[in-house]
Amino acid sequence: MSQITVVDHPLIQHKISMLRDANTGTNEFRKLVEEIAMLMGYEALRDLPLEEVEVKTPIETCMTPMISGKKMAIVPILRAGLGMVGGILALAPTAKVGHIGLYRDEETHEPHEYYCKLPSPIEQRTIVVVDPMLATGGSAVSAVDFIKSHGGKHIKFLCIIAAPDGLKKLSEAHPDIQIYCGHVDRCLNDKAYICPGLGDAGDRIFGTK
Ligand code: PRP
Ligand code: URA
Repeated sequence: MSQITVVDHPLIQHKISMLRDANTGTNEFRKLVEEIAMLMGYEALRDLPLEEVEVKTPIETCMTPMISGKKMAIVPILRAGLGMVGGILALAPTAKVGHIGLYRDEETHEPHEYYCKLPSPIEQRTIVVVDPMLATGGSAVSAVDFIKSHGGKHIKFLCIIAAPDGLKKLSEAHPDIQIYCGHVDRCLNDKAYICPGLGDAGDRIFGTK
């Protein structure tokens, strides 16, 4: 099983409650998704490797830790994952950004791939996959399958809301990845939407439908 971390800081819980509110409009929803991504990223990146470097303070020269040169890639699952990219980039501005385009078939709920591009060399990067919703887990499993098939190894998956089914499916399919979520909701409904959830994350971020 993967390492699963629920990042339940009060600020994240508060902002998720605002996201859930059907009266929260597109502009505010987008800002909240980005803020939550940054707060979650702060926790998810706490194991970034450090190296001691020499710095000359106004007083004396000392050895002091800085993030080592390890490369990072942020990979949003389109569309909704795009809403989280800015929040992670605020923490790691030099990260490269890949894209994985997947949509869920409305009937079967199976993911369909329509666009994938990853930064190279992907095998040397810490890869942060972002998608606000982990429902059945089909999209997340496909995205991680794709990244691994291109050589990706060090993978973290960040979602804002997870369903128990999706967490189980992703952690069983990819036990070596680290999964971070802001809240684990109750269940899926018969259309595979998360309950209570927040509705369709892509539509709420982009103001569609
Ligand atoms: C949503 C969401 C995830 C997926 C989760 O995307 O952003 O990618 O569903 O569902 P799953 O865990 O059951 O696969 P959607 O397919 O609606 O596409 P969109 O982001 O373009 O709206
Ligand atoms: N995708 C969403 O955007 N919301 C859900 O509840 C499930 C999948």
